[in-house]
Amino acid sequence: MYSKILSTGSYLPEKILTNNDLAELVDTSDEWIRKRSGINQRHIIAENETNSDLAAKAAENALKSANLSPEEIDLIIVATFTGDKLLPSTATIVQKKINAVNAAAFDLNAACTGFIYALTVGDQFIKSGFYKNVLVIGSEALTRFTNWKDRGTCILFGDGAGAVVLTRDANADSGIQHSCLNADGSKPTEWLEIPAGGSSKQPSHRSVIENEHYMRMNGKEIYKFASKIIVESINEILMKSDFCIGDIDYIIPHQANIRIIESAADKLCIPMERFIVNIDQCANTSAASVPIALDQAVRSGKLKKNDKIILVAFGGGLTWGSTLIVI
Ligand code: COA
Repeated sequence: MYSKILSTGSYLPEKILTNNDLAELVDTSDEWIRKRSGINQRHIIAENETNSDLAAKAAENALKSANLSPEEIDLIIVATFTGDKLLPSTATIVQKKINAVNAAAFDLNAACTGFIYALTVGDQFIKSGFYKNVLVIGSEALTRFTNWKDRGTCILFGDGAGAVVLTRDANADSGIQHSCLNADGSKPTEWLEIPAGGSSKQPSHRSVIENEHYMRMNGKEIYKFASKIIVESINEILMKSDFCIGDIDYIIPHQANIRIIESAADKLCIPMERFIVNIDQCANTSAASVPIALDQAVRSGKLKKNDKIILVAFGGGLTWGSTLIVI
């Protein structure tokens, strides 16, 4: 049994924050942000919206394209680290919102690699015969965890959600072909973390004053790690398959920084046109970035049947991973 990607969906909140808007909040400029990151704007969750709202809308779009009713979904996995609450899981809230009454549901946190991990978990449930239809969602409300006084992080992040419906299929030549998942927990968590709000540092007056409920990052270390690992992960998945880089139609990378993607193109000796990029419009939406880019590429008609595509991501933890799919 194999997992076929039956459909994709995504949702971006309506409100847009431009680089010029940000320049009114912190000491930065449109030119600096574009040059150093490739970002022009980001979508921002509305005050009355939650992560599960974004996830549910992306899921509904995917279900509509699949022509599947919510009752036919066996499992919902939401990849996120910015869920509605610590308890219960965002996946169970999504289950209620989309009326997927027969589905099991859980969240998965692998930071920005979350969607690749979740897709692989969903794939295993289908290959083992345990489930037939799995809804895999990457959804983030990152701006709820953004310190708008820290120019080193606030320029980079945005909100959104992307989803795919995986279904059981007898055809080995399409769908998910191979996956590689990796982690290195030995690196300092300070490289990319939200210090407070978990069980190691409970919320307190002091933690709020010190902005410890927001994302903190060592941009330089993460940049070095990401630039190296994106290429290693692509090479690892190619090694697992019978394909070489020349056989791959498109790479859909985590949208963290355009310079990371450009350096990967350079090292792999392939043109930038082979990468699906939306960082200019959406910024870094963590676990949502790959499925949003995938859905946009499917809906725009860029991806054709039988195209071979590598999805690749990296993030906090540290974590990284890639998946080779055939559309
Ligand atoms: N606007 C204007 N200037 C800024 C700035 C901003 N938003 N942020 C930093 N600067 C300044 C710095 O203070 C520094 O000034 P100095 O030279 O006078 O000290 C200068 O710009 C260069 O800063 P630096 O941190 O070296 O920039 P950079 O080229 O490394 O770019 C990032 C910074 C954050 C864009 C880059 O490090 C990055 O993308 N890192 C990876 C982040 C990432 O992908 N995170 C998520 C992974 S899942």
